[in-house]
Amino acid sequence: MDTKTLLEWSARYHTPNYGARAPVCLVRGDGMRVWDTDGREYLDFGSGIAVTALGHSHPRVTGAIREAAATLLHVSNLYHSAPQIHLAKLLCDHSFADRVFFANSGAEANEAAIKLARKYSRERFASDRYEIIATRNSFHGRTLATVTATGQEKYQHGFEPLVPGFKHVPYNDLRAVERAIDAHTAAVLVEPVQGEGGVNVPDDGYLPGLRKLCDAAGILLILDEIQTGMGRTGRLWAYEHAGTAPDIMTLAKALANGVPIGAMLCREEVASVLTAGTHGSTFGGTPFVTSVALTVLQTVIEEKLPERAARMGQYLVDGLARIQNRTGVVTVMLIGAELSGPAAPVIDACRDAGLLVLSAGERVLRLAPPLIVEPRDCDRALGIIEKSLGAGASAHPTGASAHPTGASAHPTGASAHPTGASAHPRLA
Ligand SMILES: Cc1ncc(COP(=O)(O)O)c(C=O)c1O
Repeated sequence: MDTKTLLEWSARYHTPNYGARAPVCLVRGDGMRVWDTDGREYLDFGSGIAVTALGHSHPRVTGAIREAAATLLHVSNLYHSAPQIHLAKLLCDHSFADRVFFANSGAEANEAAIKLARKYSRERFASDRYEIIATRNSFHGRTLATVTATGQEKYQHGFEPLVPGFKHVPYNDLRAVERAIDAHTAAVLVEPVQGEGGVNVPDDGYLPGLRKLCDAAGILLILDEIQTGMGRTGRLWAYEHAGTAPDIMTLAKALANGVPIGAMLCREEVASVLTAGTHGSTFGGTPFVTSVALTVLQTVIEEKLPERAARMGQYLVDGLARIQNRTGVVTVMLIGAELSGPAAPVIDACRDAGLLVLSAGERVLRLAPPLIVEPRDCDRALGIIEKSLGAGASAHPTGASAHPTGASAHPTGASAHPTGASAHPRLA
């Protein structure tokens, strides 16, 4: 079927919530590259929003998928299954955690974390101790509780009344958390690096400071590592940089390299309140998905991909700095380049030139390539980014050159793009 008809059917049959989808239909992927229905090749520097850390059609992942599909897809959590047990053990062996609950997405992992924090705090302390402190510009998912936790009104609008029991404070502000803590606080929920509302890297003292505040008040620290986990920040988990650990951590995205999975990891004492029957999921942790995730996690660890991410992230950051002396960058393989104007036209221009990149908020170009990225891929990506920022832009230092396509590329609709009137922005 031709691309035009597919896009017409997409517009006609899907609910319109992904209105800002790029006008391409992707059909195949291999390593760092994907191809569309017209045979055009793209270098993938978005990884399906930080998901395909091992790239596309990785032989070990494809092998695990084939084997798992031909062995056992699903049995329900009424029974044990070996891959689920091995994955839980491997996650615990390589993190602070003692226990794991498997879900199907990031939002569900965060739901589990929120429910666990409430139950723990009510049982251990007081029945009115259920509040979660989250941060502005955060992103934690689209279910009703996680969209309430998400500190961005644009995702909440129209879905009110929201879930009670959430407070928001500015990110990277310990004093604000300290002021917000009271007798009702059950937990603090943060991303170690904010990845959707901009790429916001906190000060070194932020996570250790949160740990101290939580310990002093006897409340739980929940880290949402859905985007930062699995090596993207140069360590397997971003919290390792801070020399401290949370009580609960949530994962999804790269854990099974694109096969849907979520996981909530926690300490023994916290897990103990999740007694029989208190939580569950039909699909959570099927033998199929956990076989794949097991292979992905083993590959990330054995091939030392976090270290590789650190090297290649630095390579990219240096390259961005050369494009223009300043960038609003940075954390290893989750790179935000702050622009002087909207990111959407730059994203479109990159795509037209064969490079897939993301936005984070309106003015930040987000690079989240697979961790297997090579220097030559970075060089090509940097070349395209430089051109897309506009040779034009150097002739127009205020970024006033017109943009031909006008459409925003962020599939979740997170980047508001003022259609038509955009310019090719420069790195701010
Ligand atoms: C930090 C963070 N938390 C939670 C989520 C929600 O994950 P999912 O879309 O799998 O529900 C995302 C997704 O972008 C995320 O980046």
